[in-house]
Amino acid sequence: DKNIYILGIESSCDDTAAAVINNGVVLSNVVATQKIHEAYGGVVPELASRAHQQNIVPVVHEALRKANIDKKDVSAIAFTQGPGLMGSLLVGASFSKSFALGLNIPLIGVNHMQAHILAHFIKTEEQAAPNFPFLALTISGGHTQLVKVTDYFEMEIIGETLDDAVGEAFDKSAKILGLPYPGGPLIDKYAQLGDPDRFPFPKPKVGPLEFSFSGLKTSVLYFIERETGADPEFIEKNRNDICASIQATIVDYLMDKLKNAVKKTGIKEIAIGGGVSANSGIRKALNDAEKSYGWKTYIPKFEYCTDNAAMIAMVGELKYKQQMFSSPDIVSQARMKF
Ligand code: KG4
Ligand code: ZN
Repeated sequence: DKNIYILGIESSCDDTAAAVINNGVVLSNVVATQKIHEAYGGVVPELASRAHQQNIVPVVHEALRKANIDKKDVSAIAFTQGPGLMGSLLVGASFSKSFALGLNIPLIGVNHMQAHILAHFIKTEEQAAPNFPFLALTISGGHTQLVKVTDYFEMEIIGETLDDAVGEAFDKSAKILGLPYPGGPLIDKYAQLGDPDRFPFPKPKVGPLEFSFSGLKTSVLYFIERETGADPEFIEKNRNDICASIQATIVDYLMDKLKNAVKKTGIKEIAIGGGVSANSGIRKALNDAEKSYGWKTYIPKFEYCTDNAAMIAMVGELKYKQQMFSSPDIVSQARMKF
């Protein structure tokens, strides 16, 4: 196993990424983030596909160079089959098929959502992997899912969002406040200086394990319209408190859902992933939950939380060991179940 090198390719949204993993250890993890979408306030699918087409070969070259291996050393190539933007997925899939064909190595299709969860098995000095069974909460700009994980490839979605993803709730609220895209990290920054109890926002009422965020966005919009109608400088004067209040509402809501899931399943091993795991409020709430509720919580290193190819390579390695290879006629899937 020592000489198994898996090349991972991720192209589901707006990041073109390639990584090399060897025995659970990441040798390189390269991401080309597409800046072009910033000007549009969100990801433009057609532009994303073009940028992937432009970036994919240089990104792979860089990943191999940083891992200090030749392409002939690659044991198998793993790529994101879905879910994601079709045009973006096709670039990664076609590249990977050609690479596998040219080098006569196995091809491994990977579910992006499974990869966010299995990123916890990447070996790092900071933290051990969660123990089965565990609960995974995947929170990003595209996804909000609660998953019961019984084994590497035995996962069950026990709750998900009915509308927006949690990252969208951050980004859309930020947009209402006039902050640039993606606004999540900025809300977090201002929130750390503000009073979270100043402006209470309602928490959307849905099933105990379901999520809904579109109502929160509307509440923020109406609130801001009303207040700026009375005082045009309302946002400038109260930015920190507004951000702290929005963030506290979202974090509380996520924690409520986790508490419901723990109650329902009896599982107290909690692993989070996705870009929103970077949020200081959710990190603190999870740390506190270790003491208050006796949970064991796991948060991956930031570079393995946001979209990356190391997690795809990790799943590739796990599948390689079980000979779970894909046939060359495998197709990309915009929507994909576990
Ligand atoms: O996983 P990711 O990089 O891409 C996908 O959406 O798959 O997640 C990006 C999302 C964006 O919505 C961004 O605003 C949010 O993660 N985000 C944050 C923070 N850092 C990133 N949201 C709140 N607080 C943060 N510190
Ligand atoms: Zn993702």
